[in-house]
Amino acid sequence: MMRKISSIDFKSSNTTSGKTVLIRVDYNVPVVNDLVVDDFRILKSLPTIQYCLEQGSKVVLMSHMGRPKGRKNKMFSLMPAGEKLAELLEMPIKFSDDCISEDAIDVSKNLKDGEIHLLENLRFYNEETLNDQFFAAQLAKHGSIYINDAFGTAHREHASNANITKHFATKGMGFLVEKEVKFLSENLSNPTKPLTLIIGGAKIDTKIGVIENFLGLADNIIIGGAMANTFMASMGREIGLSLMEEDKIDTASMLINKANRKKTKIVLPVDFTGELRKFGSGDICTADASNIPSKMICEDIGVKSIDLFSKIISESETVLWNGTVGVAENPNFATGTNRIVDAIMENELTSIVGGGDTVAAIRNYNEEFIDQFSHVSTGGGSCLEMLSGSKLPALEMLKK
Ligand code: 3PG
Repeated sequence: MMRKISSIDFKSSNTTSGKTVLIRVDYNVPVVNDLVVDDFRILKSLPTIQYCLEQGSKVVLMSHMGRPKGRKNKMFSLMPAGEKLAELLEMPIKFSDDCISEDAIDVSKNLKDGEIHLLENLRFYNEETLNDQFFAAQLAKHGSIYINDAFGTAHREHASNANITKHFATKGMGFLVEKEVKFLSENLSNPTKPLTLIIGGAKIDTKIGVIENFLGLADNIIIGGAMANTFMASMGREIGLSLMEEDKIDTASMLINKANRKKTKIVLPVDFTGELRKFGSGDICTADASNIPSKMICEDIGVKSIDLFSKIISESETVLWNGTVGVAENPNFATGTNRIVDAIMENELTSIVGGGDTVAAIRNYNEEFIDQFSHVSTGGGSCLEMLSGSKLPALEMLKK
């Protein structure tokens, strides 16, 4: 069992001062010109940080940023994330330009109650991704309680989320991880039905595990995006010049057969919008799935598919969505994705969404809608792994 943060005693028994909580967060956020351009993950880390501060603790935060391959590189500094955090919390944050130096550890040891210390990028050391035990031991010197709230990294087995846990008698998950586990795992093992899974995006590979895991559990699996083209091709349908994965045709057939056996309906688009000849030609056309012109590239679902998918959504009690159903970053082909958002907003249902592109598309359509989903996952790979039914190494370590 993973311990919840609310069950942890943050007060030292023999002194009035608070304990130092070392929190693994995932501040792997997009930065342009030294400014954080999407603070979603930072915002989602605030409840745990604020709770620890309210308990009278001192807080040390650690994270990775990008893939700097074990070398210090200013481009991957966590300084912009620290500035964004200070702005959101409206308080100063101490920042160390290293995560394991004696200086950095001293800053953590000398924190006063209510102070926050952010460490520089863990991946400036290869030892982080190698799950090195000595690196983990050095990191552990920063605090006496360990909290993992980095759901986005929970599918990795790294020093800061795996080996480090061996150094703490008191450890647990933060509020973010708790919510992710509740919505992506616990609730879905016995979902309120009908359950509809909407899967989009380009590549089948990354989503096979999720589709397989929901066969027999979901009532409907709606497939959109370029992935739908591969499914169509597997059924012998003409798809024009649309993107598809030739080497995944057998996989698509296998999934369709399994779905039939397990009584889960696979629902494919019945019509498409796209362009003629090449991407960006601007020669927009629409066609029924049964009649796709040989020069058409399907880039979004059409109006009949929107009606079909919206009806299925309106009849569902739970909708789980990962992957846009069209090339949503192009306004010409964002309609299908936007209408799915509308259908979810218009109906009272449990709505769970994950995947960076999908979340970005929803926010791009209407920033206010994102907060109306029951749960928006901060994970990319970790979200897909959890939905595939796999155990996430970092969370397993919290159970030991
Ligand atoms: C993510 O953004 O998916 C996580 O932060 C993990 O990053 P990684 O894929 O570089 O391990």
